[in-house]
Amino acid sequence: PGNAGVLLVILGSGDAAQPWIPTSPSCLPSLSPVVYFNGAKLVVETPKDPVYSSNGANVTLPCHYHYEPDMEAKRKIRIKWSKLRDDYTKEQDVLVAIGKTYLAFGDFRGRAHLHQANRREASLVVSDVRLQDDGKYRCEVIDGLEDESNVVDLRLKGVVFPYQPPRGQYRLNFHEAERVCQEQGAILATFYQLFQAWSEGLDWCNAGWLADGTVHYPIRLPRKPCGGLHLAPGIRSYGPRHRHQHRFDAFCFSSALKGGFFYLDHPAGMTLEEAKQSCQDVGAEIARVGQLYSAWKFLGLDRCDAGWLADGSVRYPIAKPRANCGPAEPGVRSFGFPSKGRFGVYCYKER
Ligand SMILES: *[C@@H]1O[C@H](CO)[C@@H](O)[C@H](O)[C@H]1NC(C)=O
Repeated sequence: PGNAGVLLVILGSGDAAQPWIPTSPSCLPSLSPVVYFNGAKLVVETPKDPVYSSNGANVTLPCHYHYEPDMEAKRKIRIKWSKLRDDYTKEQDVLVAIGKTYLAFGDFRGRAHLHQANRREASLVVSDVRLQDDGKYRCEVIDGLEDESNVVDLRLKGVVFPYQPPRGQYRLNFHEAERVCQEQGAILATFYQLFQAWSEGLDWCNAGWLADGTVHYPIRLPRKPCGGLHLAPGIRSYGPRHRHQHRFDAFCFSSALKGGFFYLDHPAGMTLEEAKQSCQDVGAEIARVGQLYSAWKFLGLDRCDAGWLADGSVRYPIAKPRANCGPAEPGVRSFGFPSKGRFGVYCYKER
């Protein structure tokens, strides 16, 4: 509700069914203009630009409020943070606070608290940021009947990668797509994340699920089998699809690595089982696909050696393209899911 609605209820002397409506400006002063201006306008401010963070970091989502004209709050202010979907409807409660007391909800319990360096600050601090924290947050300030809010956009720095399971193209319904991304240390990408990846060069001619249940694919170089030559470069959309019945690939999103990433080899190469064991022998685990993409993107990992990954695929990361190391573009190269053969292995060690 905005200020106008509140004003009518107050001036109606408790009779909300018959709101007072000014007949002429001349009657305003006699009607105690104090009431009119008493609840000075509450203004809630958040940054217009997105706040960027990454996996495992601590982030502050700034939010400040004041009154216009300036005045002191007469009551205890309530502050409420919630996470929003793309269409600005509420996805979940994050935290509520009255004075110095606050309560965080769901997976924000123990990770969310308020930062109130001055008395008109209502900033939210989220520690140990997770991939699913990416998105919009509403900071709502409630002073009696006044209720104002504004939105902060939290974006995780990360990398988007297309994923196809061993069985091949278009095998995943939405729920399976969610699961394969998780198994790769990632999460289904949002449209914004896919758009960002496209603007940085991602071109992929297979449609994949996104987090909101829509299906898209990013094209840099228009071509016949990928939406046709007549379409400009861009994100091709299949729109929302049936989450159980329709099957596509997945676009996964992973963020910076908290741990260490390395390659191991053996003179005779290794089977997948031997590869898993050799990572464990040094206190690590065989890496997941999302971790290889993160290492390529954030650590600049460049290695022209094919290595096993946890899902049974064999890949290698190239930052500086060169002869005999795949195409002319940087990227993670894939040998698919070999049923036999001996390779090195990429390992990941959590810190
Ligand atoms: C995040 O904040 C917590 C305390 O709230 C601190 O223990 C931790 O070291 C911080 N993590 C990073 C990555 O700064």
